[in-house]
Amino acid sequence: MGNPPSSFMILCLLSLMMSFAYTALSVPNWPGGRTTRFYDFKVHTMTVNKLCNTKEIVAVNNMYPGPVVYAQQGDRIIVKVTNESPYNVTIHWHGVRQILSCWFDGPSYITQCPIQPGQSFTYEFTLVRQKGTFFWHAHVSWLRGTVYGAIVVYPKTGVPYPFPYPYEEHIVILGEYWLQDVVQLERQVLASGGGPPPSNAYTINGHPGPNYNCSANDVYKIEVVPGKTYLLRLINAGLNMENFFAIANHKLTIVEADAEYTKPFTTDRVMLGPGQTMIVLVTADQPIGKYSMAMGPYMSAQGAPFQNISAIAYFQYLGAVPNSISLPARLPNFNDNLAVKTVMDGLRGLNTSNVPKEIDTNLFVTIGVNVNKCRSKTPQQNCQGINNGTMAASMNNISFIKPTVSVLEAYYKGIEGFFTEDFPEAPLRFYDFVNGAPNNAPVDTNSMNGTRTKVVEYGTRVQIILQDTGTISTENHPIHLHGYSFYVVGYGTGDYNPQTANLNLVDPPYMNTIGVPVGGWAAIRFVADNPGVWFMHCHLDVHQSWGLATVLIVKNGKGHLETLPHPPADLPRC
Ligand code: C2O
Repeated sequence: MGNPPSSFMILCLLSLMMSFAYTALSVPNWPGGRTTRFYDFKVHTMTVNKLCNTKEIVAVNNMYPGPVVYAQQGDRIIVKVTNESPYNVTIHWHGVRQILSCWFDGPSYITQCPIQPGQSFTYEFTLVRQKGTFFWHAHVSWLRGTVYGAIVVYPKTGVPYPFPYPYEEHIVILGEYWLQDVVQLERQVLASGGGPPPSNAYTINGHPGPNYNCSANDVYKIEVVPGKTYLLRLINAGLNMENFFAIANHKLTIVEADAEYTKPFTTDRVMLGPGQTMIVLVTADQPIGKYSMAMGPYMSAQGAPFQNISAIAYFQYLGAVPNSISLPARLPNFNDNLAVKTVMDGLRGLNTSNVPKEIDTNLFVTIGVNVNKCRSKTPQQNCQGINNGTMAASMNNISFIKPTVSVLEAYYKGIEGFFTEDFPEAPLRFYDFVNGAPNNAPVDTNSMNGTRTKVVEYGTRVQIILQDTGTISTENHPIHLHGYSFYVVGYGTGDYNPQTANLNLVDPPYMNTIGVPVGGWAAIRFVADNPGVWFMHCHLDVHQSWGLATVLIVKNGKGHLETLPHPPADLPRC
């Protein structure tokens, strides 16, 4: 570590240089970026030792999890990503709304072509009216398995938190670890037609903890001072699982979800799906000791295999006997849907004066898993799904196929043939989505393929009803929308019924990823005031690969700062 003043000066100098160098090149920026923060991301392979096994993973700057991006609300962020790995790479800044900067959003084949090995691309965006806990991750193949890190955005100088200032803060990233190469794993799973194998371990900040083989010392630890309050930034970066998190004998007070403040809600445990972040406050108010922080599975689907060993980290009081056994945390059962609902019921937005009371466009979108008829000449190899079919997933029964150029480029340049604009506003047929035929195993579980998008005018007030289906098995799906946060105005179990649905227009949470209840529905609202091409998908990567996705295209508006600028000169080519 260099001494602080000099590295600080270098940073300032760099920021200054960078802002000169880049404003000259770039198209209109959102005003108000106070400080420009420059980061250099080198993506490469790195050798790690976990679970008695040595392997190469893809990582950023030799760190796993990757480097933390620190910033303040309103800052401009510039990250030069150089791909020194053998795989295609893109980085997505999950939760950053990318106002007028859709080109830098990151999902491969949606807003950009991947950065090919040996190439680089510089991401540039401003944190317009945003602060809180975010994360960045690879958005191509299943590289997110190891390529992820936190983004921490502080309020503007002088603006306090709406809760007592904590003694210390810590980042706690939940992840999943595979002994297999994750890029090959995705290829194999897709080629097999079947489901993915479970991960080999859950991890907390990259560490599985003592429940796993050879991992007694591969454990994350927070040392706490008795009586003090700690702020934990929880991030679920896992690939294919949703997770419970709890600390033995300690209460968690949720004060932020998906980088937006909530009314404080105190609970024994939380559930985060991949893509969700949360701040919890924890007071070290228990007898001096060593307490475990545990991450376990939440699996709401029937018959899917999953890792059942919890990852453990330590919440260790100063003065505790170091090698004492830690007190076990109580996690809910893997299928405890009520525990999930209880946390969700407790999430109430703090600043919610902008909830759209009226809507212009109402989409009804079914989500779920499908099994398609085997079309392979080698069914043994390629049709290992349920009933000897191939697994798929869909929105309104359409499995999203990524095009070979980015949708944004095709849209922006008017290149035809890569996508259509006919994503349906509702499913073709209405029936008992959760329990009934006709689209239900074994009657008809097929989906259609397509790269269908939904186009809306600038400023449209959009409502989307996300409806889980039981075509194969009902399941809680973490649905993420790029480019926006949305108000979660309602949710429930069973089929959505506008006559009986209870909507909360008073204090709904403002989120970017919503865990749609298993066998149920969720209603989200937002104003489409950010032009661009925005991916909406299940954040379980296997479902995304199977097509549980669609694209929302928001047209330019007519006023000042309502037009998407030109693409950057170094935008990768396919
Ligand atoms: Cu974190 Cu498209 O996702």
